[in-house]
Amino acid sequence: MKPSRFEDALVCINGVFVPPEEAMVSIFDRGFLYGDSVYEVTLTYQGLPFLLDTHLARLKNSANGIGMDLPWSDEELTKLIYQGLQRVDRPRQYVRIIVTRGGGEIGLDPALSDGQNLFIIFRELPLQPKKYYEKGVSLITAEIIRNPKRAVDPNVKSGNYLNNVLAISQAKEKGAYDALMLNAKGNVTESTTANIWIVEDGVFKTPPLEAGLLGGITRATLLDLGEKHGLKMKEEDLSPHQVRSAQEAFITSSTREVMPVTSVDGQVIGNGLPGPLTQKLHDHYRAYVEQVISEEKKKASKYLD
Ligand code: PDD
Repeated sequence: MKPSRFEDALVCINGVFVPPEEAMVSIFDRGFLYGDSVYEVTLTYQGLPFLLDTHLARLKNSANGIGMDLPWSDEELTKLIYQGLQRVDRPRQYVRIIVTRGGGEIGLDPALSDGQNLFIIFRELPLQPKKYYEKGVSLITAEIIRNPKRAVDPNVKSGNYLNNVLAISQAKEKGAYDALMLNAKGNVTESTTANIWIVEDGVFKTPPLEAGLLGGITRATLLDLGEKHGLKMKEEDLSPHQVRSAQEAFITSSTREVMPVTSVDGQVIGNGLPGPLTQKLHDHYRAYVEQVISEEKKKASKYLD
């Protein structure tokens, strides 16, 4: 195997911390063989995990969605994450929690598994380039569609992202930042690793979970925050045409927060600059992050040595 390029990373495997070059997974692991795994990504602000409880709840929900138990309690996972964060001791940290159905005799039957494996990856997360927020990013509509809910429900954050991998390669081929993925009905679901929003007639709109998408934690947070601040928020099916002709558009995820979109399929959104309502919602989000992190500081002492 090639030596690791991730010298800055730290990995925890089934509770044991190892440097990245020693972080290996068995070729018999079902995560490797079949994408039979679930995962979460959160990041830290001032070294503290943001909305970790919510991410752990979604991890459990994803595991349920593929009929897998999580043998670790939230408390145990939280402790491991805090231990890792203390070791790396950096303010802006990417934390990826992966649970695979484990290894065993080769075969699809989950009963062949010897038991789940837990991997936690800690890496420094560089700031997103400023220009993405100042100028906005471009999207294309991918030809490949998102799984229907009756396949693996996209609301399960599984280790099986092949549709999304193909969609983002189409975006890159066309020089775009990311791709929008449609469902079988032709409505918009989300981008390859973020939720999509538009502003239409002054209303913030994002597709409903029924469209077949991951219930993003940033998305849910923004729906709540918007309501609280008197903004008009609506979950509604969106056609690709609606997105292209929106007043404003943006994508949201834990690692990107609120990122303006200023072109879709080569069509300029609004006046081609990040919109004022997008900025307003992002400001509310930033203020909320500050508030959550100051509360997390009080909780953290319980987990820190
Ligand atoms: N991606 N949709 C998809 C398909 C995603 O993979 C993600 C998250 C989101 C946004 O979810 P949240 O707001 O909870 O981060 C939506 C993470 C960041 C990733 O895979 O790196």
